[in-house]
Amino acid sequence: TTKNSTLHQKIRDLAKAKKAIILAHNYQSAPIQDVADLCGDSLEMSIKAAATDADIIICCGVRFMAETAAILCPDKIVLMPNPEAGCPMADMVTPEALVRRKGDLGGIPVITYVNSSAAVKAVSDICCTSANVIKVVNALKEKEVLMTPDRNLARYAAANTDKKIHLWDGYCPFHNDLSIEAVKASKAAHPKALFVVHPECRPDVLELADSIQSTSGMIRFAGESSADQFILGTEIGLIHAISKALPEKKFFPVSDQLVCPDMKKTQLQDIWNCLEKMSGRVVVEEAIRIKAMNAVKTMINIK
Ligand code: 13P
Ligand code: SF4
Repeated sequence: TTKNSTLHQKIRDLAKAKKAIILAHNYQSAPIQDVADLCGDSLEMSIKAAATDADIIICCGVRFMAETAAILCPDKIVLMPNPEAGCPMADMVTPEALVRRKGDLGGIPVITYVNSSAAVKAVSDICCTSANVIKVVNALKEKEVLMTPDRNLARYAAANTDKKIHLWDGYCPFHNDLSIEAVKASKAAHPKALFVVHPECRPDVLELADSIQSTSGMIRFAGESSADQFILGTEIGLIHAISKALPEKKFFPVSDQLVCPDMKKTQLQDIWNCLEKMSGRVVVEEAIRIKAMNAVKTMINIK
């Protein structure tokens, strides 16, 4: 709409004047993806946050993404346009419960998915994302590790490495709900399409996949593939990002039920408001930040 395009331009102008960078996750709604300087997966968002020379980072996604930016950039102002946006999976582990479990397992290393709070990262040895989980597991010298909070990501890693991986019973309520029946129905409707899936889905669903990828990994995979049709086993927001990157190819959501409500909470107007009023600041307490930064940086430095 005209109202949206005016607001889009106003946001771009104000971001430039204030030296702000706008980062958006691939699941954000289309107007948010389009106004952002960078749209990416969790790993790309954190690498970009760590490397930016902007003064202000506007993080359009969910809280753990803004916290990761604040962990990596203590001298920058990190703003969340809608501070209500959280991740239910991140809430499935607390630092107290994690420390207890690590103790019960004799102190083995803890790998924590970035979909977690700063306080949980602070009691973890290393972080991982869906894009680098196998590399991270293989980089540890220990043969036994505990992975939190996503049991599906951990099972995927276990199937692709030689390590013994202890599970935490967390999951993404939306990816975990995708059934093999829904996948089969989608494959029947699009017989020529390859099925690409996110590792947060259940193991029986992953077995049906042509490729298992992070959100940006799906864009790379589809770009490099000779196929021209794909069924995406992830949140529907990715359809916009991938169609924009690869306009000549066709993408189908595996299910129109795979929607993360928290990822849709941020509106264009929220970005304007937070940039104008400098509201929604995310700060991580210094003692926690230092420890969490170790876990995140150890991950980023793995080559
Ligand atoms: P990606 O890092 O693959 O973008 O995934 C983030 C996420 O929240 C998936 O549900
Ligand atoms: Fe969290 Fe799932 Fe939403 Fe990703 S899609 S932010 S894991 S609830």
